[in-house]
Amino acid sequence: MDSLIPEPPRALCPATALAEGAARGFPPAGPGFAGVFLVRKGGRVFGYVNACPHLGVSLEWTADRFLSADGTSIVCAMHAAVFRIGDGACLSGPCDGAALTPVAVTEADGMLCVPAGAGRHAKTD
Ligand code: FES
Repeated sequence: MDSLIPEPPRALCPATALAEGAARGFPPAGPGFAGVFLVRKGGRVFGYVNACPHLGVSLEWTADRFLSADGTSIVCAMHAAVFRIGDGACLSGPCDGAALTPVAVTEADGMLCVPAGAGRHAKTD
């Protein structure tokens, strides 16, 4: 049975550790979770589950490399699907019309935080 007490948010990194135009990935919170990643663009921080809607794999080709060379979009390393940073919509590629799963990002005590359940795989039982 799930607890009725909300889990505290997961603190990912200091807000100062994510520069404008940068992206950063974070490992799964535990078994049954996918990782998440953050992008700071236009002064806002966007968060997504690190799972491509095409095949469910992680998007980055090496640590923290989620963005196109010009930094204007998110790109999946596997088959080069292109996603809009602002809403995760797939603009081209094999999952055209799908979208990344957004994660709410908050800042508390100088830390960027996501909900404790961010990236949790849907229960299948
Ligand atoms: S797995 Fe991401 S585009 Fe195919």
